[in-house]
Amino acid sequence: MAKYNITVNGKKRQVEADSDTPLLWVLRDNLHLYGTKYGCGIAECGACTIHYNGNPMRACTMTVGSVGEAAITTIEGLSENTNHPVLQAWREHDVPQCGYCQAGQIMTAAALLAETPNPDDDEIEAAMYTNICRCGTYNKIMAAVKTAASMK
Ligand code: FES
Ligand code: FES
Repeated sequence: MAKYNITVNGKKRQVEADSDTPLLWVLRDNLHLYGTKYGCGIAECGACTIHYNGNPMRACTMTVGSVGEAAITTIEGLSENTNHPVLQAWREHDVPQCGYCQAGQIMTAAALLAETPNPDDDEIEAAMYTNICRCGTYNKIMAAVKTAASMK
């Protein structure tokens, strides 16, 4: 085990873990940030998507030892008062069903809109297609991303 100083949701946090511990477990088990979910563990489903310096990344396959000075943002840190346009749009469209995949969906959508404020359908699909939803909320996700884009 070693100590790591990582920046999560704007705060420096010290965690103790083996260097190859997935960041997902550090977020959940060490820092008690339970919004980021475990789905597949092999970077296939997107349930664990967080922002790494603003880019959407899979926390299940990123090791804590590789985080370094990067700014990590989880769903809990996306906005202080839940008024991020993506969160507002998700509520407006009542997107979640079981909800399990939704933190990952929202983090991917937020990163897309930060990079591409007015994405067309193809750009939304290209950004979102690796985030799997077993409940099939894809049409609502598409609509909500467009609504969020219109708010920016
Ligand atoms: S749990 Fe990380 S991509 Fe599925
Ligand atoms: S809302 Fe159930 S898996 Fe997406």
